[in-house]
Amino acid sequence: MKLLIIGTGSIGERHLRCFQQLGRSEEIAFCETHAPRRAEIAERYEIPAALAFSDLDTALASGPFDAAVIATPAPTHIPIATRLAALGVHLLIEKPLSLTTDGIEGLVEILAEKKLTVAVGYVHRAHPAVEAMKEALDTGRFGRPLQIRTASGQAFATLRPAYRDVYFAKPELGGGAINDMITHFYNLGDWLAGPIRRVMTDADHQILEGVSVEDTVHSLVRQGDDGGVMGSYVLNLYQHPNEVLITVVCENGTVRAEYAKKRWSWMTDPNGAWHHEAVEMPDVDVMYRRQNGAFLDAIEGKGEVLCTLSEAIRTLQVNLASHRSLREGSWQTIDA
Ligand SMILES: NC(=O)c1ccc[n+]([C@@H]2O[C@H](COP(=O)([O-])OP(=O)(O)OC[C@H]3O[C@@H](n4cnc5c(N)ncnc54)[C@H](O)[C@@H]3O)[C@@H](O)[C@H]2O)c1
Repeated sequence: MKLLIIGTGSIGERHLRCFQQLGRSEEIAFCETHAPRRAEIAERYEIPAALAFSDLDTALASGPFDAAVIATPAPTHIPIATRLAALGVHLLIEKPLSLTTDGIEGLVEILAEKKLTVAVGYVHRAHPAVEAMKEALDTGRFGRPLQIRTASGQAFATLRPAYRDVYFAKPELGGGAINDMITHFYNLGDWLAGPIRRVMTDADHQILEGVSVEDTVHSLVRQGDDGGVMGSYVLNLYQHPNEVLITVVCENGTVRAEYAKKRWSWMTDPNGAWHHEAVEMPDVDVMYRRQNGAFLDAIEGKGEVLCTLSEAIRTLQVNLASHRSLREGSWQTIDA
């Protein structure tokens, strides 16, 4: 397995580290256009100069790769993916898939023709509390989902000090909390409680210094096969506690994931108590190793990727509808 990581900024570095830790690749190369960053990554991860490329052209000229991780800003994802797919390279593409639907049909066709494995980096599906919750919901023991609520927040300026200088500050590069953050929860919501059909979004810039993109998002949705599940998704990028709370209320019980408490919980008796189950989450890399391991398994025909291309295309449609709703101040329907 010869692996190429394209872009080694914040997430590309994490992917490189996690693939190294998995130890399943014969060779890991990367390309990074920013020379100081390229040197830093090559040194930190002991990548020989011959495998640290200045751009994609040079990397591809050096020989074939089996798989690639596309960890560059969102507008480049589809053009890079299409180029690599034509060369028969399996792909792990970072979220969001894109900022428009341009080129997606063509990409889907090439991928089908070449029979390639594709995963999209909606990594919250690999959080052990979410995985346990999904498994429990899928047993059907809680009955039909009626309501889903996701609430999350973090001190982004502290956790991602470079936010002003990277794509996050620029809507045209995928910046702002809709395309960058709440998209993770739209994707999870689709997975846990059925496809989002309609969305109404309020969002604004409240306080995050040095940027004007939205740092707060509130979306109301209707989802599920018949649109009968009511959902609310809220998020900010400045509260001090770093927390993610996901609650699915079903006919016969309620299921919840709480990242900060490293647990998932359920309650089925109105006079009863919560049942809590702890999950192992020593560090955030756990999720990426799990996601990336599933990608390698899928390439080897031993399993499924955690988020498929078609699921990520749906989430792109939700992101687009959410932006439309914000612009127009009205409910928007998701076509896909
Ligand atoms: N799944 C997650 O948890 C997660 C977390 C953060 C970011 N992301 C996503 O990953 C993508 C990248 O985010 P980031 O935070 O790493 O951004 P970043 O700005 O920190 O890094 C991007 C890197 O790509 C390099 N680059 C840009 N174009 C290139 C090209 N054509 N060839 C080679 N290198 C190139 C840049 O020099 C930079 O170092 C975005 O789509 C973002 O939404 C996902």
